[in-house]
Amino acid sequence: MTVAGTLEARLSLGGKIAVVTGAASGIGRAAAQLLCTLGARVVFLDRDAAGLAVAVGECADFAGAALSFELDLSDHRAIETVFAQIVEVCGGIDILVNSAAMNVSGASVDYDLETWQRVLDVNLTGLFLTSRLSARSMIAREVGGAIVNVASVGGLSAGITGRGNANPSYRASKGGVVNLTRALAVEWAAKGIRVNAVAPGYVRTPMVARLTNDPVKEAAAAEKVPLGRFAEPEEIGWVIAFLAGEGASMVTGQTIPVDGGLLA
Ligand SMILES: NC(=O)c1ccc[n+]([C@@H]2O[C@H](COP(=O)([O-])OP(=O)(O)OC[C@H]3O[C@@H](n4cnc5c(N)ncnc54)[C@H](O)[C@@H]3O)[C@@H](O)[C@H]2O)c1
Repeated sequence: MTVAGTLEARLSLGGKIAVVTGAASGIGRAAAQLLCTLGARVVFLDRDAAGLAVAVGECADFAGAALSFELDLSDHRAIETVFAQIVEVCGGIDILVNSAAMNVSGASVDYDLETWQRVLDVNLTGLFLTSRLSARSMIAREVGGAIVNVASVGGLSAGITGRGNANPSYRASKGGVVNLTRALAVEWAAKGIRVNAVAPGYVRTPMVARLTNDPVKEAAAAEKVPLGRFAEPEEIGWVIAFLAGEGASMVTGQTIPVDGGLLA
């Protein structure tokens, strides 16, 4: 086999069914579109129906195919219903990317408990449910698979972004994602399912609009990053695509910072 042929075989996701949460915006959209470029049939999931339509529409000329379902991850029954529909329509799931999350800042001493619960419901319990529903499909078909979670540098360090932005529920949920990634990787390794995560630093998406809408705040944040800038969503998407593909066949249980050196 030529080097080019080997590379193509290693990078191609042709014939794979991939499901991506948070696919209407930011990192999820970039990852879903990249997987589609690499030949996968990609199911875009999000609670934002209008954003989904735009994201899927942009894939018209890509190698793979794109379809979407509206889903709010705080509705745990709806997750079961939608995943049953995906398996029925697509025949199974080979790749899952968990990118959807919410972030509500607030000081811990006053933090509203309903908000705390909602953030954990979406960021951690929602991710657990999508993961096990995907794993059930992978195990039933005896094909293995790959799950890639989008954690955060905030799940690996509390000090990295300074004292100014208290968000206890988000950090607790992302720390949970990092360790759940390890736990599921070990539990499902014998079934051929790899589970990994990426931990982005600052990425130019609507989630950090409070920084990117203010040049002074963005410059102050970028100053902390050794590479000196915010990442573009595609720069996280490429690492997700790598972890989802055969090139990462010996990688599992890991959380890879994609942070321009923030944690270095
Ligand atoms: N942008 C950053 O700087 C940054 C840094 C570290 C980690 N992250 C992580 O990256 C991931 C993607 O975030 P992003 O930056 O692309 O933000 P984003 O706001 O662009 O995208 C998040 C998407 O998740 C969806 N979503 C939120 N709650 C949902 C719910 N309950 N059900 C279904 N969909 C829901 C939103 O509709 C949106 O489309 C998140 O897990 C986030 O924590 C982002």
